[in-house]
Amino acid sequence: MKIVICNSYDEMSMLGAKVIAGQILTKSNSVIGLATGSTPLGLYKNLIKMNKDGLLDFTDVTTFNLDEYYPIDPKDKNSYRRFMDENLFNHINIKKENAHVLNGAAQDYEKECEEYDNNIRAHGGIDVMLLGIGRNGHIGFNEPNESLVSATHRQILTENTRDANSRFFSGIDEVPKAALTMGMGTIIKESKKIILLASGKDKHEAVKGLVSGNITSNDPASYLNLHKDVTLFLDKEAFNG
Ligand code: PGA
Repeated sequence: MKIVICNSYDEMSMLGAKVIAGQILTKSNSVIGLATGSTPLGLYKNLIKMNKDGLLDFTDVTTFNLDEYYPIDPKDKNSYRRFMDENLFNHINIKKENAHVLNGAAQDYEKECEEYDNNIRAHGGIDVMLLGIGRNGHIGFNEPNESLVSATHRQILTENTRDANSRFFSGIDEVPKAALTMGMGTIIKESKKIILLASGKDKHEAVKGLVSGNITSNDPASYLNLHKDVTLFLDKEAFNG
């Protein structure tokens, strides 16, 4: 695992964007894994600027997002599909049909998850997977647990997670009870390269757990130690606490 300590959030966002841009410049039809949350917003702004400046072309790029609430209407203001449209896809020249987000309105969630994994495999896997990390070490909606589900799956959300995310909704009752998420197995087996961004003091404990090398289902991020090409881009606060 490589660790890059960045002077600031902006530097972290630029270095992360350069990894993705470099991948796309090397292979125009790259497959990129994407994440939601506040951490990658700066990185997305950089990708948008590179695209607008004519430096980066998304015409042949395919993306697969990490997770989505379930059930949720993709048009809902809190859906991760909407988040991605508003913060990235609407501002770059990616073909919308190539920008995959798990369908929060799928009738049959098992079929949706299975097809998502099959689709990733049919594309030859993910060239670069971008991840954030939760304060409790969660990755996507893979929450600490006695055991983890390897494949993409439906995850019932804990009251804690629903409570934490209720700030975006009008109240906790509005927060979906579950989510669809790539499993740690999908992430590790299907990604050729993984970059994880973490910013701020409150991510320090999670980062510490990850770099300790101790692999446990109570710390889903720790499974990333099983992958041979992971780079962490951390600002000083996330690294030092
Ligand atoms: P954040 O979320 O980027 O908003 O901190 C990351 C996560 O919880 O995975």
